[in-house]
Amino acid sequence: MKTKHLIDLESLSVSELMEVIELANRIKDDPKAYSEVCKGKILATLFYEPSTRTQMSFKTAMLRLGGSIIGFDNPQNSSVSKGESLKDTITVVGGYADIIAIRHYKEGAAKAASLYSAAPVINAGDGGHLHPTQTLTDIVTLYNEKGTLDNMCIGLCGDLKNGRTVHSLIKTMSHFKGNSFVLISTPELGVPQYIKDIMNASGCRYTEVSSLNEAMPMLDVLYMTRIQRERFKSYEDYERQKGVFVLDREKLRLAKRDMKILHPLPRVDEIAEEVDYDDRAKYFIQTVYGMYARMALIMKMLENADRKPMPRQSDTHQAKCNNPNCISCSEEYLPRLFKPLGGDMLLCKYCDGRNLI
Ligand code: NCD
Repeated sequence: MKTKHLIDLESLSVSELMEVIELANRIKDDPKAYSEVCKGKILATLFYEPSTRTQMSFKTAMLRLGGSIIGFDNPQNSSVSKGESLKDTITVVGGYADIIAIRHYKEGAAKAASLYSAAPVINAGDGGHLHPTQTLTDIVTLYNEKGTLDNMCIGLCGDLKNGRTVHSLIKTMSHFKGNSFVLISTPELGVPQYIKDIMNASGCRYTEVSSLNEAMPMLDVLYMTRIQRERFKSYEDYERQKGVFVLDREKLRLAKRDMKILHPLPRVDEIAEEVDYDDRAKYFIQTVYGMYARMALIMKMLENADRKPMPRQSDTHQAKCNNPNCISCSEEYLPRLFKPLGGDMLLCKYCDGRNLI
C-alpha cells in the first residue's frame, strides 16, 4: 500500500482495495495464521466522538493480530479537556503508537492529524464528512454477500447529507464498473454537491427519489442510514426529518429476492426489528466483516510505514474555509490548504467544502 495515512479511500487504487478485501477474507478463513503478525505493535484509538462498532472493531482487530492498544474514548478524560490542541495530542501519541485511528466531530480532523503524526493515521470518521473504514467494511460485506462490486443498483436511504458513511461509499463504488445509485431522502437531506460532482465525473448514473417503495424493485443493495441527530442545528429540525423512511416487512415484499440490506449501525427506527429475521438483512454480519476489514487494513498500513512526520506545509492560503464544521476553522494554527477548482472556486483540502474566493 503506497499511502502512509488513510484519510479517504480515494488514496487507494481499485487493485489496492481488492488486495485489502482479499486479505480480509484470508484472515476470516484462517484467523489463527494471523494471530501474531502485529506482536509488539501498538494501535492508539483516539475517539473524540461516541462509537461502539468502529472503536471496538479496531481494538479487537489489533488484539486478534497479537498487537496492543492504547487510547481514549472520552476526550474529557484526556488533556483535550485542558485545552490541548489536536496537533499537540497527535504529535505526542504519534511518538507512542505505531498506528493511530482517530474519530472526531470536526470535518477534516483526520487530515489535520496526519500533518503532525509520525505514525500512520486512519480516519475513523470526521464529522459529517467521510468514514473510509466503514466503506471498507461495506465493500468486504458486498463482495462476500453479492460476489461482485460491479454492475449493481445501489439504493442509499436516510440522511444522505450528514451521513459520512454514505459519502465514502458512493465515492468508492463509483470507481467500480457499471454501478448506479438511487438516492432516497427528503429534499433537505440529499447528498452534498461535491458527491454529485464525483458521480457525474465518473459517469455513474444516479436518480434522486423521495419514496422507498418507488425505489425498492430496482435495487440490488439497500443501504439504510440513521438520521444524524447530532449534526442538526436544533431538535425541532431533527424531529421534522425522523421517521420519514422506515424499512419494514411490507416494503420488503417489493424488493428483489437477492437484494442485500446493509446499515452501518446504530439503527434508531429506520429498520423495523422484524426485518432482522429476513435473510436479506446483512447489517449484523456486516459488523463482523468490519473487524476482518480493519485487521487487513492495519496489516497493510504497518507493512511499510515509516516514522517520518510530514514536512511542514508551506502552501498556506490567504482564504479561510467557510464551512463552520471544518477543523481548519477551529484549530487556527493549521495551514489553509485549498485546491483550485477553476474560476473563483477553491476546494478545502480538509473538508472538501467549496469556497468562493
Ligand atoms: C456510523 C458513523 O459513526 O458514522 N456508525 C459507524 O461507524 N458504524 C453511522 C452512524 O452513526 O449513523
